[in-house]
Amino acid sequence: MSAKEVNELIRQAAEKAMRETDSEPEPGLTEEINWPIKVELHRGLAGAISNTTQIGYVNGAKGWLIYRGFNCFDLAEKSSYEETCHLLLHGRLPSSSELSIFNEQLKKYRRVPQPVLDVLRMIPTESSHPMSALATAVSMLGNLDANSEDISVENETEISLKLISQMATLAGAIGRIRQGKEPLTPNPELSHAANFFYMLSGTVPDEMNERIMDVSLILHADHGMNASTFTTMVVNSSLSDMYSSVVGGISSLKGPLHGGANQQVVLNLREIGSVENVDSWYQKKRAAKEKVMGFGHRVYKAYDPRARIFGPIAKLMAEKSAENKTIYEIAAKLEEVVVSELGQERKIFPNVDFYSGIIYKAMGIDTDMFTPIFAVSRIAGWTARALEYLADNRLFRPRAVYTGPIKIDYKPIEDR
Ligand code: SDX
Repeated sequence: MSAKEVNELIRQAAEKAMRETDSEPEPGLTEEINWPIKVELHRGLAGAISNTTQIGYVNGAKGWLIYRGFNCFDLAEKSSYEETCHLLLHGRLPSSSELSIFNEQLKKYRRVPQPVLDVLRMIPTESSHPMSALATAVSMLGNLDANSEDISVENETEISLKLISQMATLAGAIGRIRQGKEPLTPNPELSHAANFFYMLSGTVPDEMNERIMDVSLILHADHGMNASTFTTMVVNSSLSDMYSSVVGGISSLKGPLHGGANQQVVLNLREIGSVENVDSWYQKKRAAKEKVMGFGHRVYKAYDPRARIFGPIAKLMAEKSAENKTIYEIAAKLEEVVVSELGQERKIFPNVDFYSGIIYKAMGIDTDMFTPIFAVSRIAGWTARALEYLADNRLFRPRAVYTGPIKIDYKPIEDR
């Protein structure tokens, strides 16, 4: 299996997406907005508009994901995570000289200060989630950076580059420490994806694993105003520092409704155990009115384009071992069952988290490290959008509709 085969799968997924979604109607939200606009109140801020952006666009009806005008299928097939970060942060794909300067900057920042590793070693692995450890580590990076309180766009951009580079080092170190091993020193000869894989697993990836990790990092890099991006931007809008803002993003991403779902998916697939059990397991979930992890999305009412790419890659990886094959077959059956019941009518399809965990598992990565991988990628979107907003900052401060009583007379405690 080669990187070329992976790219071919992505191209086929893109063609399938085109065939299936091209006829879907174009929703709003791309045309110019005439302020002020009237909005309705929906729980969870569904449909609420927080700002304008040139960074990325998710078209939920058509199943499109676009970074600064570039379709995610093209980027996944042809680009690299480093190029994608340049695109998101600086607004355009780099020339080859710009890319080598950008790569050198990222490589220069890969090592993290020793006290951060010391703090990570102090965190008890039995009681701590790796995302909580990641948040602590980023907070510690901020505490150690004498420039962290300089909130200029220029300095925050430099810190963003540092964080893009160091998030991978931190996640790698956390994974190793959780296995009772020593963190590894970054390898400057390797690409961002290959070096991350190496620091997490201790092995330099082959061409195919490097490509798949790179594709995964590209596809998770940005996704509209998702909960963790919004959290990062809200913290940054008070002119707090970028480290604190990113700690907010990590904390939001941790939850099972957001980035933590892929970990749950693999646990569920293991619990199901065999293809024959899929139906009864699903019916029990439905009867208990529980959500099936890895399905549904606030914005996508069509198939998530990232899942279109990850599905075939998970299938490719399934050929590597009997265990991978079983897990993949259970997943494919679960998709069939869920989509046949909820697809047409409720527009519930697999999301990015459904197949990503299966891929990481096939790469030999521990289940509890799946969400940190999401953070290693999403740091690009968090920082790009926080920086874009910072350039014309206004404190985020929505209002709630108060539904409680307005006037109650105060009674002394003995009369209550
Ligand atoms: C990510 O926002 C982003 O962009 C996020 C993300 C990114 O890149 O940043 O794409 C990454 O977070 C992916 C989502 C990972 N989470 C999961 O897989 C968890 C399982 N899915 C869900 O809980 C749910 O679909 C959400 C949280 C993703 C979205 O939830 P919403 O928009 O708040 O929808 P809802 O919970 O209000 O559900 C609406 C209806 C309900 O039915 P009714 O009450 O109207 O009858 O859809 C049903 C739900 O029961 N539904 C599901 C379901 N998801 C929604 N039913 C069964 N299984 C599901 N997974």
